[in-house]
Amino acid sequence: MTIWAVANQKGGVAKTTTAISLAAHLTRRSQRVLMVDLDPHGSLTTWLRFSVEAEQAGVLSLFQQAAEKQPLSPAACVHATDFEGMDLMPAHAGLAALDRRLGNQPGMGKVLAHALSALKSRYDHIFLDCPPMLGVLMINALAAADHLVVPVQTEYLALKGLERMLRTLEMLGQSSGKALPYTIVPTLYDKRTRASLDTFQRLQKDHGEHLWPRFIPVDTRFREASRQRKPLPLMQPGARGSMAYGVLLDDLLKEVEAHG
Ligand SMILES: Nc1ncnc2c1ncn2[C@@H]1O[C@H](COP(=O)(O)OP(=O)(O)OP(=O)(O)O)[C@@H](O)[C@H]1O
Ligand SMILES: [Mg+2]
Repeated sequence: MTIWAVANQKGGVAKTTTAISLAAHLTRRSQRVLMVDLDPHGSLTTWLRFSVEAEQAGVLSLFQQAAEKQPLSPAACVHATDFEGMDLMPAHAGLAALDRRLGNQPGMGKVLAHALSALKSRYDHIFLDCPPMLGVLMINALAAADHLVVPVQTEYLALKGLERMLRTLEMLGQSSGKALPYTIVPTLYDKRTRASLDTFQRLQKDHGEHLWPRFIPVDTRFREASRQRKPLPLMQPGARGSMAYGVLLDDLLKEVEAHG
């Protein structure tokens, strides 16, 4: 069982697309997957055909239970999706107020880790789709994860988000005493642009050891897949973008296996 956090302190770099595409490939391989949407905007929740306004139990319920010192009920916060082998713990719009409401309350950093430990036996993989900003939800994700995937859009400004993310990781590593392994994944690579190549080379130079040495290409079919509310690897397994995520998955699985 592996818990993957997908995070970057920058918006629009393909975090949600990466989480859903890796997960979809796993379900094609008959693996049982839980998707956890930690972003108050709920793109993942919407993509998987749930609503962030609905009253269903989800991530917010867990934090409310923890704040009220009630026992957690993680199993009730998980719902089957239309896609075989894929369950969802949905986001709720109310998550946006979580930092203001609970941020300073002690003991809130491990709520998700505790909840997931009760669900582990049911799944082969769990994906935590993070919001683009540092807060109690991202802290929870990093504390619960076994491996971090950091999608980085291959354009100039994207490196700043990566630097912020790595500083956060280092800070948390110091306070917890254990370093979370991570893989940087170049995304939205457009081979017609100078910026994509420049950024990729920059990543190779500065982060070679943690860099996935390939990239996810721009593929407009991702937008169509999100419009149709289906994961692209299930809709069009042969699409360029789908195949790239299949290769990424193979490499990530090898890496996790190699490091226990
Ligand atoms: N490889 C790709 N090719 C083309 N479009 C892509 C690709 N990956 C992602 N996109 C598109 O880019 C946009 C941002 O992707 P996504 O929502 O996955 O990013 P995110 O990092 O989760 O964003 P946010 O920070 O808002 O949560 C979406 O419209 C998505 O369809
Ligand atoms: Mg997202």
